[in-house]
Amino acid sequence: MTILVTGGLGFIGTNFILGHLAAGGDRVVDLDLATYAGNPANLAHLPDGEHLLALGDVRDRALVDRLLAEHVPRALVHLAAESHVDRSISRPAAFIETNVVGTFTLLEAARAHWETLAGADRDAFRFLYVSTDEVFGSLAPDDPPFTELSPAAPNSPYSASKAAGDHLVRAYFRTYGFPAVTTHCSNNYGPYQFPEKFIPLMIINALAGKPLPVYGDGRQVRDWIHVEDHARALSLVLEKGAPGESYNIGGRSERANLEVLEAVCRVLDGTDPLPVGRHMDLAVHVTDRPGHDRRYAVDSSKLEEGLGFMPGYSFPDGLEATVHWYRANRPWVESVTSGGYREWMRTHYGMEG
Ligand code: NAD
Ligand code: DAU
Repeated sequence: MTILVTGGLGFIGTNFILGHLAAGGDRVVDLDLATYAGNPANLAHLPDGEHLLALGDVRDRALVDRLLAEHVPRALVHLAAESHVDRSISRPAAFIETNVVGTFTLLEAARAHWETLAGADRDAFRFLYVSTDEVFGSLAPDDPPFTELSPAAPNSPYSASKAAGDHLVRAYFRTYGFPAVTTHCSNNYGPYQFPEKFIPLMIINALAGKPLPVYGDGRQVRDWIHVEDHARALSLVLEKGAPGESYNIGGRSERANLEVLEAVCRVLDGTDPLPVGRHMDLAVHVTDRPGHDRRYAVDSSKLEEGLGFMPGYSFPDGLEATVHWYRANRPWVESVTSGGYREWMRTHYGMEG
């Protein structure tokens, strides 16, 4: 048996595929364009019999049709996306192309493929759309967490493009009976995350003694989940989720950004002390992100009570392990922080990457 995964060279895709194979899961065909955020070296050690890389674009209908016809996957797990909110603010077009047109292309191709299946194969086929809690917008401090019934209220071009995918997936289930399932996960952290995102950026800048740019007052709240817990939840939803349903995935771990940064700095003060002062002294408050969502929090009781999910990592343990992963994997960090990354650091923060 085979599953088709998109975006397997990225942060969550890499962790999902490694977890899926370690659990004895079926072969993975991985459609990925290897953008700046996708790293072929992450999975290069896997034999083709376990992980076959198909380099290409999710918008390429002919390629997607060929992969579906050749490998006849039992499921498609759609992770590929442009995923960084700040980039969506400065250059939104790629987000519409990949996240909206790409998701539409995959839905069309997968629906045509599913319609050729019969009997048990047709009943078992699943399309898993990996969406985000950001589609629900921003919460006030005392609001209850997002549920699956929270209305869509995206505030950035990124979250709007992901919400467009949500709507398409819903419409394909309602109109065609196409067996699609959606997940909305909160902020992930862990190994292989591209260091434009908050936690790895803070770790590698702190290790280099560089400024730690905190947007605005740093009191924005995110609900952090370790990426391996997210990956396990995706496997659970793939096997047991009901077509047409959506499932929230959260870490039960709301933290303000400054609190997260202090925790990162505390670990590094112990392992890599600065000659003078503490790592937290490197923090600088910079101009806030336009339209910055103040708080995300996710109610995952449907997943927990319905499918038996529980996050395995506590945030302090997961964060400490993540800091150690970046300390121990400097060659990986160097391989992904070359030309394009330096350019992003210069244009977005006015600092050398
Ligand atoms: P990422 O940016 O690390 O990886 C994205 C991957 O998609 C890369 O390998 C990239 O090469 C690939 N890709 C981009 N455009 C493509 C295209 N046109 N065709 C084929 N491949 C393409 O992203 P991530 O953080 O791993 O997120 C994966 C998915 O999970 C995304 O859909 C994102 O919206 C969702 N998500 C992420 C988080 C998070 O905290 N990171 C939380 C919830 C949901
Ligand atoms: O909630 C799920 C989402 O989490 C995913 O859908 C997105 O793909 C993922 O990127 C993430 O979005 P955020 O915008 O929450 O993550 P980011 O790591 O960019 O920022 C986390 C918080 O840290 C946010 O409040 C902005 C802040 N921040 C971020 C950066 C990069 C800073 O203060 N300084 C920074 O330099």
